[in-house]
Amino acid sequence: MLYKDELAQWDARSDINLITTIDREVEGWTGRVGFIPTVTKEVAPKTDYAIICGPPVMIKFTLPVLVECGFTPDRIIMSLENRMKCGIGMCGRCNVGSKYVCKDGPVFTKEQLDQLPNEY
Ligand code: FES
Repeated sequence: MLYKDELAQWDARSDINLITTIDREVEGWTGRVGFIPTVTKEVAPKTDYAIICGPPVMIKFTLPVLVECGFTPDRIIMSLENRMKCGIGMCGRCNVGSKYVCKDGPVFTKEQLDQLPNEY
């Protein structure tokens, strides 16, 4: 797991409810076990914003759960960095409709993506 020190700092704060999960049980793991959409549904976060960063399949299946949890599209923020190749607006690999992920993003709200073709 990356950023263990930072996660420990977040966990120690009273204004952050840190929940970690892994896909399969591992000896010594003290967090939750389960995929992100399942854990998100169980936890039903009551925050102002939801921020998603990870593989496209995780984002795809977590988005409807967040909507179910009551997040409006303008309060769901996600990163599409996985679509980038050159990162400087030259290759056209990152296009979603008229947007270049590398130049116009890579962070978008669900509200912004709902206005683009479902190519992400
Ligand atoms: S990553 Fe090449 S144009 Fe955006």
